[in-house]
Amino acid sequence: MRLLYESVNIAATVNLLELCREFQVKRFVFGSSSSVYGATSRAPFSEDQIELRPISPYAATKLAGELMCYAYAHLFALPTVCLRFFTVYGPRQRPDLAIHKFTELMEKGQPIPIFGDGSTGRDYTYVDDIVAGVLAAIRLELPSAGEKVSFEVFNLGNSHPVKLTELVDLLEATTGRHAVRQRQDMQPGDVPLTWADVSKAERMLGYRPATRIEEGLKRFVAWYRTTSPLPV
Ligand SMILES: NC(=O)c1ccc[n+]([C@@H]2O[C@H](COP(=O)([O-])OP(=O)(O)OC[C@H]3O[C@@H](n4cnc5c(N)ncnc54)[C@H](O)[C@@H]3O)[C@@H](O)[C@H]2O)c1
Repeated sequence: MRLLYESVNIAATVNLLELCREFQVKRFVFGSSSSVYGATSRAPFSEDQIELRPISPYAATKLAGELMCYAYAHLFALPTVCLRFFTVYGPRQRPDLAIHKFTELMEKGQPIPIFGDGSTGRDYTYVDDIVAGVLAAIRLELPSAGEKVSFEVFNLGNSHPVKLTELVDLLEATTGRHAVRQRQDMQPGDVPLTWADVSKAERMLGYRPATRIEEGLKRFVAWYRTTSPLPV
């Protein structure tokens, strides 16, 4: 798994940066991650934190991707924006991520894993809000070559962290099903909290996350049930 992170998050990013340089592409937008902040960051996480200490290979490779973006922006005047996504969810979410995985297990009446005491918090962000932020990043005016380095980093989060136990309660209310909670040890690369400070994105991108978790979960479960109906 570690090799895959390196080859996609670093090598493939550099391939794309090279192609952008060769073909003089006007804008590069990199999908980065809240995980670059690591476990020791001040919360809410702000882009001006520079002592970043990722605690998983995935997070380390995402930060490496950002650094390569900066190097290309600096060396080749490639206007670049890195967007740190905070736990994106909504219709078509990857099946290995918590909300999708938990919904599937609950619909099937199977136990769901609760890591540690369930107090870890995640800043779940609805996909439509993320898309609005990505579109704004594509359109953002950046300094042209010769001025300063054309490079910006933005958090795209919801700025309302939700505890794991709270998420499961909300999923029970949304699905109308009982969750069988199965305690498991904390996973070593998991951070205790993610929480985006979105003031820079609000100021420069006009980004305003508008979807409350209750509404986002309703839309996710409605989508899930149309694509994965239970056998009758
Ligand atoms: N989902 C999240 O909560 C989240 C949070 C932070 C950052 N991110 C970042 O956002 C990006 C997208 O994540 P996602 O969760 O939407 O994943 P996803 O698996 O839903 O989508 C990834 C897409 O990339 C395509 N892809 C994968 N490898 C490829 C390759 N070698 N060449 C071309 N296309 C390839 C896949 O076909 C897929 O369409 C990733 O860079 C991830 O690190 C996601």
